[in-house]
Amino acid sequence: MAREPADEPEPVRLRVQREGPTLVDGPVTVELDDGTTATSDRFRVALCTCRRSRRFPWCDTSHRRRTRG
Ligand code: FES
Repeated sequence: MAREPADEPEPVRLRVQREGPTLVDGPVTVELDDGTTATSDRFRVALCTCRRSRRFPWCDTSHRRRTRG
């Protein structure tokens, strides 16, 4: 039986930002380079791309430059 176009899943959409996390619609499971996985069931997930997050692979805003206040 041929698949109808309506049966095709929607492509996963990622939003890449110049500085900051990559945004993806959740839920997601991320496979890490050490073989572990991390899962988030949030509606929108921010993936850390700078590797400074204490909650890696999730962004914790550590990518932001610190300013003196
Ligand atoms: S991208 Fe936000 S902490 Fe790394």
